[in-house]
Amino acid sequence: MTTSHTVNVLLDGTLLTLNRAVGVLRRRNVAVERLTVHPRTDDGASRLTFALTADAATVDRVIQQFRKIVGVRAVEAIPNDLNNGPTNGGADMSSSQVRVFYDADADQARLKGRIIAVIGYGSQGHAHALNLRESGAQVIVGLRESGTSWLRAKDEGLDVRSVADAARAADIIMMLVPDQEGRTARRSCSRTDSTCTSRKSCPRPTWTSR
Ligand SMILES: NC(=O)c1ccc[n+]([C@@H]2O[C@H](COP(=O)([O-])OP(=O)(O)OC[C@H]3O[C@@H](n4cnc5c(N)ncnc54)[C@H](OP(=O)(O)O)[C@@H]3O)[C@@H](O)[C@H]2O)c1
Repeated sequence: MTTSHTVNVLLDGTLLTLNRAVGVLRRRNVAVERLTVHPRTDDGASRLTFALTADAATVDRVIQQFRKIVGVRAVEAIPNDLNNGPTNGGADMSSSQVRVFYDADADQARLKGRIIAVIGYGSQGHAHALNLRESGAQVIVGLRESGTSWLRAKDEGLDVRSVADAARAADIIMMLVPDQEGRTARRSCSRTDSTCTSRKSCPRPTWTSR
């Protein structure tokens, strides 16, 4: 079944990127209507908008193709029945206050040579620890030895230490224990280590993604 969508593409405001984006439509022979480009002067981005009437698989393929283009920052396809009919300009990503970050937005060099302690290995901790490790960062997981997470993290091949040891070894600490356990985790550090008096040796979140 074909349905009508408004596709919004936020991309670098350069002719090269625009050319690549339009090239995807040309090469895939996608029938589009009402194609417009709006420059956004504040961050050097432009917004390319067009209406696309196609089946769900085609819409999905077009979105995936756009995501692969160097210089494309975000892509969304909004069914026009949710969008109150086709619009010239479509839903405005700039007004929705949503900014999507991609690998290219991050400077991984800032983590180079730094050790990151992830305290806690639950829903958040395990995802952060594994993602960081797979991105090439040096990760230590800080846990209580009596807990079930200790073995789980070990089984994943991570460097697992007590909270105090992990914190002491780290340059950056991510505190990812349940909020009500935060105080206990910090105290377990100072109780087990009489040298734990500085910011570096006591778990304090330098940053978290919460
Ligand atoms: N889950 C979410 O979707 C979500 C979303 C946004 C924000 N957050 C926030 O992220 C933080 C972590 O939440 P979570 O959902 O990942 O928690 P969780 O799944 O309950 O995991 C908690 C982890 O912390 C460990 N832990 C608990 N008490 C500890 C202590 N005293 N010392 C050392 N380790 C301890 C647990 O290990 P044991 O095996 O030893 O118990 C477990 O590995 C919270 O602040 C939460 O508000 C969570």
